[in-house]
Amino acid sequence: MHLLDLIARKRDGGRLTPAELRTFATEYAADRYPDYQVAALLMAIFFRGLDDEEGFALMEAMRDSGGRLDFAGLDKPVIDKHSTGGVGDKVSIPLAPLVAACGLAVPMMSGRGLGHTGGTLDKLESIPGFNTRLSLAEAKAQVERLGCVLIGQTGEIAPADKKLYALRDATATVEAIPLIAASIMSKKLAEGLHGLVLDVKTGAGAFMPEPERALALAKTMVAIGERCACPTVALMTSMAQPLGVACGNALEIEESLEILRNDGPADTREVTLALGVEMLLLSGLAADAVEARGQLEGALADGRALEMFRRIVEAQGGDPRVVDDPKGVLPQAAKQEVVTAKRTGIVQSVAPRVIGRGIIALGGGRLTMEDAVDPSVGFHILVRPGQHATRGQPLAAIYARDTTGLEAGRACIAEAIVIDDAYVLPPPLISHRVSAAGVEELAPG
Ligand code: URA
Repeated sequence: MHLLDLIARKRDGGRLTPAELRTFATEYAADRYPDYQVAALLMAIFFRGLDDEEGFALMEAMRDSGGRLDFAGLDKPVIDKHSTGGVGDKVSIPLAPLVAACGLAVPMMSGRGLGHTGGTLDKLESIPGFNTRLSLAEAKAQVERLGCVLIGQTGEIAPADKKLYALRDATATVEAIPLIAASIMSKKLAEGLHGLVLDVKTGAGAFMPEPERALALAKTMVAIGERCACPTVALMTSMAQPLGVACGNALEIEESLEILRNDGPADTREVTLALGVEMLLLSGLAADAVEARGQLEGALADGRALEMFRRIVEAQGGDPRVVDDPKGVLPQAAKQEVVTAKRTGIVQSVAPRVIGRGIIALGGGRLTMEDAVDPSVGFHILVRPGQHATRGQPLAAIYARDTTGLEAGRACIAEAIVIDDAYVLPPPLISHRVSAAGVEELAPG
């Protein structure tokens, strides 16, 4: 098979066969196709799309390009969660230990920053010593022993996705429904799960900003999960503004610890609990949403979730003192500055993409895959759209490594946070629930 034929056919609106998609994924994972040709095929797919059968075949081929986790014999339900990505979205970090403390087995495999979004792995690695590069055998052993592991995608799991993910990031081909669906579902379905919960972001900071497209993505992924006998539920959550207060790697670990201490910003806590409820329902460990929420709130209130996080940090080589003394253990930015409102009015927007790009400008994200990440930098966003602000009121705090960083931070906040007089009604935090049974509107969009 010659890749050139596939590129030309897709460019002209034709279909690719399952066998062709399998060869494509396998050969690319084995470094036998040049990046420039694969980039051209990705761009053709970006514009022409893949139908459901092509998308499913691509997902299967990517999933089968590597090994799989197998939890046969484990006496716990194995459930994971994945987010389509956003700014300030640190939910995986408190959620995984929280549901593990409630009795689930969670082999959580996360990614690095993609485009303007942050990555769970970069956040975890701001904890000194924390190792996210475990082998599949080590990850499996930790899940069996503790109930939870927080790892990155090794070359062993869906290696075709690992390479395609990096290439899409570098070729502006991330925002395509079949490519996102195949990417997420290929690695998740290689984890040997009994159920999967998806957090599909919508709004300005999401890869699918329009609610209709986010809903289409959610339906596509739920259908793939169900077709592979992995019950899958998706919640559509707002990325119209950054989630929570902290945006930046070490800052987001601090906020995650606040959530685990039964505290923290209301929106981060609510999304964590809502996804946790779905995970417990899929596992069968809770009969209904009220019981599931009670179990989660109990594990936060009595410290079991926090204790589970401590054990995970310890098991993965991190400094467990981070749990009791985050500021003493996490890297701290050399420069800090509070930005205040220049006028009184209503916060019109806190643009998440601008904040995400601002973190990269401060050194906290990557422009190329080789870039090193400074874990200490970022922002605290202190206002939400729709909120009244008075002149002089703190809007944000900048955490930078030097005065150049502070300048970049000031420019970012000036662009991202707009104050004017119009009344603003922010979109609902959690708008839809998508499952095999259909779409439920939880709040008017
Ligand atoms: N997260 C993924 O794992 N893949 C994508 O394509 C987008 C978000």
